[in-house]
Amino acid sequence: METRKLGGSQLHASVIGFGAWAAGKAGWGDPDERELERAIWEAYDNGVNFFDTAPVYGFGESERVLGRVLKPVRDQVFLATKFGLVWDETGIRNNVARANIFREIEESLRRLDTEYIDLYQVHWPDPEDRTPIAETIGALNDLVKAGKIRYIGVSNFSVSQLAQAQATAPVVSLQSPYNLLQRKVEDAELPYTHANGIGFIPYSPLAQGLLTGKFTRDSAIPADDVRKQLNPLFAPDSYAQALLKVEKLKEVANKYGKTPAQTALNWLAAKPGITTIIAGAKTSAQVRENLGGVGWRLDDEDVNLLNTWFG
Ligand SMILES: NC(=O)c1ccc[n+]([C@@H]2O[C@H](COP(=O)([O-])OP(=O)(O)OC[C@H]3O[C@@H](n4cnc5c(N)ncnc54)[C@H](OP(=O)(O)O)[C@@H]3O)[C@@H](O)[C@H]2O)c1
Repeated sequence: METRKLGGSQLHASVIGFGAWAAGKAGWGDPDERELERAIWEAYDNGVNFFDTAPVYGFGESERVLGRVLKPVRDQVFLATKFGLVWDETGIRNNVARANIFREIEESLRRLDTEYIDLYQVHWPDPEDRTPIAETIGALNDLVKAGKIRYIGVSNFSVSQLAQAQATAPVVSLQSPYNLLQRKVEDAELPYTHANGIGFIPYSPLAQGLLTGKFTRDSAIPADDVRKQLNPLFAPDSYAQALLKVEKLKEVANKYGKTPAQTALNWLAAKPGITTIIAGAKTSAQVRENLGGVGWRLDDEDVNLLNTWFG
């Protein structure tokens, strides 16, 4: 498995990483824990060394599952988690203040059953700008000095927020949504990270399953599924348009004897500036398929076709 250096860090991350949101179970149809475990090992056994999670995924459950499964190989993998979305009976709120960071780090270390986190990421910027970015990044820098985290990352930040963060301490990566159906980062964030030697970690690389080609007009997606709850691509109009585009993706995939998922991941991996693609999976079969997204190349002509169809 090809590895790529994550920005200015010493982390050489596998080009396909593992996204562990669904390992939190909630909102993902409560996947079977033994199958999740097999999925994680399928990834690890085939060279995946970068695992991404967050406290809010299943309210601690994703971190617990990942920490437990990867415990025997902890020093062989990079654990990336996040902070800043806190929850109680009333819902989920953003809190990226210093005191909250010092509280959350201890909880993540405990759930992941580890003494350090390789990449600690601000999950979302403060939507109301209550906490100055310098306070958040300053607190993270103190965690680096204390040996609790190795590197600082951000997620869902704009270029201006990223530049403010960098002014306080080194930030090694930006994690943002990027896939054939969601290409907004191509306008500003990706060119900026690429030009500045910052790693880029695309999330939802399969558009939460849409790019696998398995969804149809008649697919029944439960109302409590995160896709129905949070993803604008699953709103009726966008969904219908996405399905039409996926038909084009299938045509290209067929030409190579690959699946739509593999073709979508290959397109992404070839984009300049991409470091590690955190592909989410619930089963070992999904992991196996997704790992086949790299190790081959789409012709330039087909990349251009995809760029146009999905433009
Ligand atoms: N920073 C952030 O704000 C943020 C936001 C979102 C995600 N993330 C991170 O990015 C990771 C990946 O994103 P994501 O999980 O949202 O979306 P994704 O990777 O695009 O899609 C993952 C889901 O698609 C389905 N799937 C995956 N491979 C498949 C295959 N080969 N065939 C059929 N179905 C397949 C599975 O769900 P089903 O089987 O249920 O269809 C799987 O859980 C997350 O796990 C998380 O670590 C971060």
